[in-house]
Amino acid sequence: MTDTPGGQAETVQPPPRGALAHIPGDEGWPLVGHTLSILADPKGFVERRVERYGLVHRTRVFGETNVALLGPNANELMLLDPQKNFSSTFGWATILDRLFPRGLMLRDFDEHRLHRRALSVAFKAGPMKSYLEELNAGIAARIAQWPHGREMQFYPAIKQLTLDLAATSFLGGQIGPEMQAVNRAFIDMIAATVAPIRTPLPGTKMRRGVNGRAFMVDYFTRRIPLARAQGGDDLFSQLCRASYEDGSLLSVPDIVDHMSFLMMAAHDTLTSSITSLVYQLAINPEWQKRLREEIGGLSLAPHEPLRFENLDRLALTELAFKEAMRITPPVPSIPRRALRDFEFNGFRIPAGAGVNINPLFTHHMPDVWPEPARFDPMRFTDEATRSRHRFAFVPFGGGAHMCIGLNFAYMQAKCFARHFLGNVAVSIERGYRPDWQMWPIPKPRDGLKVTLTAI
Ligand code: HEM
Repeated sequence: MTDTPGGQAETVQPPPRGALAHIPGDEGWPLVGHTLSILADPKGFVERRVERYGLVHRTRVFGETNVALLGPNANELMLLDPQKNFSSTFGWATILDRLFPRGLMLRDFDEHRLHRRALSVAFKAGPMKSYLEELNAGIAARIAQWPHGREMQFYPAIKQLTLDLAATSFLGGQIGPEMQAVNRAFIDMIAATVAPIRTPLPGTKMRRGVNGRAFMVDYFTRRIPLARAQGGDDLFSQLCRASYEDGSLLSVPDIVDHMSFLMMAAHDTLTSSITSLVYQLAINPEWQKRLREEIGGLSLAPHEPLRFENLDRLALTELAFKEAMRITPPVPSIPRRALRDFEFNGFRIPAGAGVNINPLFTHHMPDVWPEPARFDPMRFTDEATRSRHRFAFVPFGGGAHMCIGLNFAYMQAKCFARHFLGNVAVSIERGYRPDWQMWPIPKPRDGLKVTLTAI
């Protein structure tokens, strides 16, 4: 490893292949290793491996042998990282580097802290209030268009809604043809993050993703002078005004990289988590009723916006959203790369090794979460939470890289719940259980068939 003065490593070499031979596990199939098995069923795959090899084991994915570190203690070690042993930059680089380079999650230590501080202005109460206005308007308008009394696919509908909201609350724009092009570019970039062919050869997903990135760089770069001149309350305008500690404005390439990354980080995670929430409410009508009553307690007129001051009053909604993310965490696994040798559970793991923790596995450990498949938001009351390991629930990660958009996510989920449950009831056909594709970000393969009825 080579260090810069800011603590950011310039390069990290993976250890020689045999260096992980003492870690329980195997190398899987020739060439592909375990990549296809993980893509097909990440939860079942890791559970089988834990049974066979234990909570620390090696797996070969995307052409490299990695070490899985599982359970709350592993989460704490890797996320808190007091020794600065783990690089997020080189952990995420394999998946994100070509498509979302230099986003906040792709920076380490002092440099990361500097950028995180600059970005944090966009998540303070003032800007959040103005995003909430856009969320209210966009969510109410879309939900009013969703059909009643016949089956609809929820996932594509909420994905479209989240894209609309990105256009307004993130970019301050109107939903028009240019936004469709922005959406297309984003969809291509996100799809390329887990493309098995990593070189942007013509006709590949990676090529489409790289082209999408070029489009977005051009799009944001052209708009920065305008956003700086005009001002505005959207997230992009906030970043255009944000400054480093010395008071100078964020550079144009930094705004472009942070903005692309923020949109990516927010988009599929919100789409996935709200889909999980709606699914759980559809199969647990008693909880749907309880949340509707809670929303009713706000005494809002049918289409009245949710106010910022109301957010804390939707406590049960928050518990239900947490429980949906426990069962189906939007980021099922989190990678890092070891910058120096370290020890965990009696295993010595060498510098350079790719390591990962697994929220999906941790959130279903039966000794931590009795009856893990059962939807029970009361697991998240203060009392229940106090008696659990604080790294047993990690949908937003933890430590220095903990999701910067966490409050935005709760706000959007509550705003959605207010307009959705305040106007419709959601049901699914008896016995229907959609098949979830869990990686890289969970989604129901058939789009989740639901029926809405006006209330
Ligand atoms: C339910 C929705 C969301 C979930 C589950 C989620 C999850 C996560 C997780 C697990 C991490 C940490 C990854 C790591 O440690 O390597 C993270 C980081 C991040 N998230 Fe989120 N996220 C969500 C929504 C959002 C939103 C709405 C935004 C922006 C508005 C956002 C922006 C970010 C950024 C910028 C980081 C990097 C933080 C850093 O490196 O300091 N996320 N998110």
